[in-house]
Amino acid sequence: MQNSRNYSKFAAHSFSMNVLRTKDEIGRYRKQLRHEGSSLGLVPTMGALHRGHLELVERACRENDAVLVTIFVNPTQFNNSQDLLKYPKTLETDLDKLKALHCTVSVFAPEVSEMYGDSPSARTYDFGNLEGVMEGVYRPGHFNGVATIVEVLLRLILPDRVYFGEKDYQQLQVVRQMVRQKNLPVSIIPCPIVREADGLAMSSRNTLLTNRLRKEAVFLYKMLEEVKNSFGTKNANEIAEFVREAFAAHPDFKLEYFSIADAETLLPVGATDETKKYRAFIAAYLGGVRLIDNLPLN
Ligand code: PAF
Repeated sequence: MQNSRNYSKFAAHSFSMNVLRTKDEIGRYRKQLRHEGSSLGLVPTMGALHRGHLELVERACRENDAVLVTIFVNPTQFNNSQDLLKYPKTLETDLDKLKALHCTVSVFAPEVSEMYGDSPSARTYDFGNLEGVMEGVYRPGHFNGVATIVEVLLRLILPDRVYFGEKDYQQLQVVRQMVRQKNLPVSIIPCPIVREADGLAMSSRNTLLTNRLRKEAVFLYKMLEEVKNSFGTKNANEIAEFVREAFAAHPDFKLEYFSIADAETLLPVGATDETKKYRAFIAAYLGGVRLIDNLPLN
């Protein structure tokens, strides 16, 4: 575990940043850590870092001797080429944000060719029910792309712990399943959603919203709060009807899906069972920007 002694150990080089670009460099970095007996926490990201990412990094720093942040916009998880083009790419600003933290991290920012060779393609996984709902339906192939890059990174970097935000909750469940299926020796650490002051879940996509739409965006969270308040008094169908009507009446939002689901299987809830955990999930477009959010209900 990292403690104040470890922080000062790292403080010696806190003004420079160790940015690795190749798999070979990762191999040498990993060898050095193993030699020192240092534990390693991994925070995989696609960059455009915000407070949510930085909290994952800070937690990883508290729980490991060394932390590696990967910044890689993974082409195989975009099922829409426009979405990939629009995705914010801000490496220099990201590095500045990481340098400003009170812990020292290394960064792995490879080129696409380093990770995939000449023709990026995803492996095929079987996620069972997990891919037959929500993001799995609306972004076909997305989770194969996510699992491909996460598996490649985990096998290459061999971290002790890997940190994922619960904002991409379905991704978290898919990665858990992939790690189980492949028997990878890593602990997955889920971290709660970090929200803006008005409740909007932090996301790299928020920067794509105009000022006017940014103010409207909180509607997504307000809906989830209303769902939470009525969960237990109304049934799931009544709640879904209410959410659909509220979105239909909103001039800027276009609802893609709403689901109240078992937090483990992600299957839509029928009758509730007090021994289980449930979450509400929403995906919606706001002025062409796709936003997702979710909230635990019990
Ligand atoms: O959550 C993300 O940013 C990405 O899906 C991940 C896990 C870094 C894989 O590219």
